[in-house]
Amino acid sequence: MDNEAETRMARVLHHRKAGLSLGDPVVPAISVATTFHLPQAQGALHYYGRSGQPTWDAVEAQLSILEAAEAVAFPSGMAAITAALICCLKAGARVMIPSDGYYVTRLLGRDVLQVYGVEVVEVPTLEMAAADYTGFAVIYIETPSSPGLDVIDITTVSARAHAAGALVIVDNTTMTPLLQRPLELGADLVVAADTKAPAGHSDALFGHVAGKDANLMARVREWRRQSGAVPGPFEAYLVHRGIETLELRLSRMCASAAVISGRLAEHAAVKALRYPGLAGDPSYAISKAQMVDFGFLIGFELESEAVAEAFLADCPLIEQATSFGGVHTAAERRARWGDSVAPGFIRLSIGIEPVEVLWAAIAKALK
Ligand SMILES: Cc1ncc(COP(=O)(O)O)c(C=O)c1O
Repeated sequence: MDNEAETRMARVLHHRKAGLSLGDPVVPAISVATTFHLPQAQGALHYYGRSGQPTWDAVEAQLSILEAAEAVAFPSGMAAITAALICCLKAGARVMIPSDGYYVTRLLGRDVLQVYGVEVVEVPTLEMAAADYTGFAVIYIETPSSPGLDVIDITTVSARAHAAGALVIVDNTTMTPLLQRPLELGADLVVAADTKAPAGHSDALFGHVAGKDANLMARVREWRRQSGAVPGPFEAYLVHRGIETLELRLSRMCASAAVISGRLAEHAAVKALRYPGLAGDPSYAISKAQMVDFGFLIGFELESEAVAEAFLADCPLIEQATSFGGVHTAAERRARWGDSVAPGFIRLSIGIEPVEVLWAAIAKALK
């Protein structure tokens, strides 16, 4: 972590302190109230559970510190992505999205946005930085892209997009605000699935939108109220708890990913490998410039679908699951979801297991 990330994390851990009175609980309560004492309509902090409530406030306070910007919580990453896109687009507008990013974002573009009159243009991540932005209202990027782990220069995209009159939205799920700060690099909005590393234990769906433009963020907050896409209080509590150990977990996960990617890259069974932190990786230079660390995701290719499936089944320390960022190392063949990757391509999400024990299990399963 760099100094900025460490300072923000320390503030996150004590964000409630200033508001505590003698005898108050140190951790936030799980507030399940939908109604609030309201003898008069004006002046209350909360008035109805769909508009705002104390457990969301606690998580949003953490996220606002991490993003150094206003943050609005959502019940999933997709709810956050939908909110950001809806608030920046209208019928007749054009949005550019990655053709190689999270596939449900593409489905949202095709099945929802286009149906409501938005023109959705899909461009591969690596071609987005130099693409023609003329006539676009929004340039939406995901960096590093999942599962391909291509990286795009957020500063360049933001400068070019703003010159063309477009807003920039960055899906920062694979990095989290501790590992990459898109708003500082010029992006207008950040969206993220806190379901992944921030919650961290594979037990809560959550998401957020963050941004520095107060008007835009007010629209996002109002969208949440009108759409009713609201997080549950239990999930908010779990994410609040998860974020308290985010820096600790990410440090271990990134360090282990660096070790394991290097060893996998040398392994005879591995045909190809992507990790932005390896000096020979095509993403290395931009990653080093714009990321705090290189993350916990590794993409690598084994000989065939059968070999990859056998490896996943044989490794006792890899959960065969379709998510990432959790404490348990997890992996899957992304071709099973239709991602345009080789049949033997595996996305590996490094967890918090001690690295040598994890490597020994991976190496044994690769034999
Ligand atoms: C990069 C990325 N963005 C967004 C999402 C959506 O998050 P959620 O599952 O919380 O809706 C995912 C989920 O896998 C993802 O990988």
